[in-house]
Amino acid sequence: MLGSSMISIRDLANQDLLDLVPYEPGKPIDDVARELGLDPSSIIKIASNENPLGPSPLAVAAMRDALSKCHYYPDGGGFHLRNGIAAHFGVEKANIILGNGSNEIIELLYHAFTRPGVHEVITTTHSFAVYELMAQLFGLRCVKVEDYKDGKFHTDLKAMLKEVKPQTRLIFLTNPNNPTGTRVTNEELDEFIQNLPPHVIAVLDEAYYEFLDNPPDTLRYVKEGRKVILMRTFSKIQGLAGLRIGYGLAPAELADLLQRARQPFNANLIAQVGALAGLQDAEHQQRTRQITDEGRAKMESAFQKMGLDYTPSHANFVLINVGDAARVFQAFMKKGIIVRSMVSYRLPQHIRVSVGTPQQVDRFLAELPSVLKG
Ligand SMILES: Cc1ncc(COP(=O)(O)O)c(C=O)c1O
Repeated sequence: MLGSSMISIRDLANQDLLDLVPYEPGKPIDDVARELGLDPSSIIKIASNENPLGPSPLAVAAMRDALSKCHYYPDGGGFHLRNGIAAHFGVEKANIILGNGSNEIIELLYHAFTRPGVHEVITTTHSFAVYELMAQLFGLRCVKVEDYKDGKFHTDLKAMLKEVKPQTRLIFLTNPNNPTGTRVTNEELDEFIQNLPPHVIAVLDEAYYEFLDNPPDTLRYVKEGRKVILMRTFSKIQGLAGLRIGYGLAPAELADLLQRARQPFNANLIAQVGALAGLQDAEHQQRTRQITDEGRAKMESAFQKMGLDYTPSHANFVLINVGDAARVFQAFMKKGIIVRSMVSYRLPQHIRVSVGTPQQVDRFLAELPSVLKG
């Protein structure tokens, strides 16, 4: 075609996309089995903060029942699931937005509240990667506030507020934070919300909220009608990461704007049914919480005895300084243990390890000394 060699496909692309480094997920078990010739059943994945107990049996039963209805589109309005979540938290259906994972809610927030090249968002230097990725995709400046000081990770809420400018629209606070596992105190959070400028929305990413002792009463902020959204997910304590279903709790006016920005059927039929049944399985969540607390305590005590530099965690994973994350990640993988290298999180010395079943924790700890020795 005339002149086609003059303009490349890349010239036509959204230019912000060209330097985007795609999100690097935890390595799937099947990939490792294929690449290393291992039996998939011998591999453990403690890389993506999933629930090692699997999904709730109630969720599995409900999803099986729903399979025969898959020729229908899902309920785009998510009537039953949104009502179920609302009843669980004592709010209204209008306060709930469903997402294809809580990841999608991040995207909806950008759609609803930002304009490319005009607005800014604020996060921290070591937090969930998707906020920044999405900002880049949307052509927005992402301000990252330093969260590492005096050898420790801590989210500095006052420093985040200091970065607010007239063009700031979203502030992301991950509590507990991924990948550090740290939390802010309930008092720090309260002060942050009280001091939030009126043109900024606080996005409280609470993917790991259910693992907190003495959790903050963030629902109160929603009920008070503040400019806040709580992002929660069925991927972690509920053990339904593969379904891709998460939700936001927000004042009705905010939730309504997000509803306008979503695809008509963003939450699929099986996910809606499974999530609703899983939400009601308190026993499965309690068991998950218990093995997580026990496993994390065992891991942290072992790290302490070994003199390892780790960050005490409030979530279902622990961040550990192993010196050379890339090497340690590979060495574990050869032993059929998938952990997460934090190189892409600008922490080349750190790995992040999810709390597995008691057997998985023991296997990881048994291999750790020889892996570290190299
Ligand atoms: C802090 C944080 N937010 C959001 C998510 C996304 O979860 P979902 O599976 O609901 O999209 C994750 C997943 O790892 C996370 O760590």
